[in-house]
Amino acid sequence: MVYNTIMSKTIIIYYSFEGNTKFIADYLAQKLDADVLALKPAKEINTHGFMKYIWGGRQAVMKSKPTLKKYKFDINKYETIIIGSPVWAYTYSPPIHSFLSENVIEGKKVAFFCCHEGGKGKTLEAIEKLLGEDNEYLGAVDIKAPLTNEEFSFTLLDEWIETIK
Ligand SMILES: Cc1cc2nc3c(=O)[nH]c(=O)nc-3n(C[C@H](O)[C@H](O)[C@H](O)COP(=O)(O)O)c2cc1C
Repeated sequence: MVYNTIMSKTIIIYYSFEGNTKFIADYLAQKLDADVLALKPAKEINTHGFMKYIWGGRQAVMKSKPTLKKYKFDINKYETIIIGSPVWAYTYSPPIHSFLSENVIEGKKVAFFCCHEGGKGKTLEAIEKLLGEDNEYLGAVDIKAPLTNEEFSFTLLDEWIETIK
């Protein structure tokens, strides 16, 4: 078997409130034969109505770091770390902030993606800043409404995977 660095020791760490980011994370995991860590806040927003934008948006704007449900993550197992987040109020979602505050990522290959509805703002730049400068940056991609554009998302991701390998 040919040894390929991105094909091994990769983990996709993501948060998803409504399934879009999970959808992308699962696709990437399958394509890259990667492990997956789904972050879950201890207290999730309990509405999918309009109020979610108020509660979630406020958390994002306030740069909240909500407590996460207990998770297992052995950083030493991984050479490549891919972070995935929905865009909330033009930035990354609060659970990603929590995770990256609790775990210092250094000396890794990093890539990231975000899912949004057309207003990604500076989310990718913000994730890059949060990750710090001590990693090898492989690339980033944003996907608009993946669950309503599945085939388009797959094509986009297949192309992206080629660039980060
Ligand atoms: C609290 C909140 C804030 C959001 N803010 C934005 C935004 O600023 N720009 C945007 O394009 N989409 C925004 N969205 C839409 C989500 O980014 C989009 O639906 C994404 O695909 C959801 O991913 P998920 O299904 O993994 O949770 C927001 C959604 C929520 C719940």
